[in-house]
Amino acid sequence: MAGRVDALYFFLIGIAVFFSLLIAGLIVFYAVKYRRRAPAEIGADIHGSLLLEIGWSGIPLLITMVIFVWGASVFFAMARPPDDALNIYVVGKQWMWKFQHLDGQREIDELHVPLGRPVKLTMTSEDVIHDFFVPAFRVKADVLPGRYTTVWFEPTVPGRYHLFCAEYCGTKHSGMIGQVVVMEPSEYQTWLSGGAPEGSLASAGAKLFADLACNTCHRPDAQGRGPVLEGLFGKSVLLQNGETVVVDEAYVRESILTPSAKITSGFQPIMPTFQGLVTEEQLLELVEYIKSLQGLPQVPPR
Ligand code: CUA
Repeated sequence: MAGRVDALYFFLIGIAVFFSLLIAGLIVFYAVKYRRRAPAEIGADIHGSLLLEIGWSGIPLLITMVIFVWGASVFFAMARPPDDALNIYVVGKQWMWKFQHLDGQREIDELHVPLGRPVKLTMTSEDVIHDFFVPAFRVKADVLPGRYTTVWFEPTVPGRYHLFCAEYCGTKHSGMIGQVVVMEPSEYQTWLSGGAPEGSLASAGAKLFADLACNTCHRPDAQGRGPVLEGLFGKSVLLQNGETVVVDEAYVRESILTPSAKITSGFQPIMPTFQGLVTEEQLLELVEYIKSLQGLPQVPPR
């Protein structure tokens, strides 16, 4: 992605330089050429020029449309992570970066990723707005409280890369830095198998799901008071108000914290909020658990 971003950037600089020089040059050239030679000299009175006006509207339009289409294509490529991307969760907090791998490894201010594989980061903040910025990857996105944002990148050269917070977030904002470590896939596997005493994110979520007694209402047999969660993730759900919503990370998160916001059709708004009872990291575990039920057969709603 870095090459594509840079190409667009240099194109923009090239255009700016070209027109700056052209305009400055013409100003000097005409100032000299049409300077007043006699005190009584008066310039010709010129009214309009259709050709000129079409030219100075049309040419900039063409140039800006090239910038627009080119920029949009880079934007779309950056906004759509490949389906096979490795999913890693990020929680920003004053003043550190917390990373959670699906296998259960946790890291702070250091992110290990394998070479040559797309990596998708799902990010949120525990407190204020932060901004995840890895200049070498041309990756930068706000990390917002109460919302999930994503970025993705595919590391192409092993090594260590700077990671910054790029949004002023308090006293130690400048210290909210870290490193992205890009490893050969075999090394990465070794690194992965080195940790994770607590098991995978989804299994931690499953445990939490039972600890919080979510399973008393969300039962797989459709006899519970809440919707069946098996096979639900990624599907769209009909709500009480007639709208539909796609079950994604954000919807699961909202349903845990503000259960009454979007009630599934056929159910009562009886679920209590878990606001303040689960941390952002635990929310991610629950999201990952519900995701892990994705492949299971879906029981039709009552
Ligand atoms: Cu976090 Cu600046």
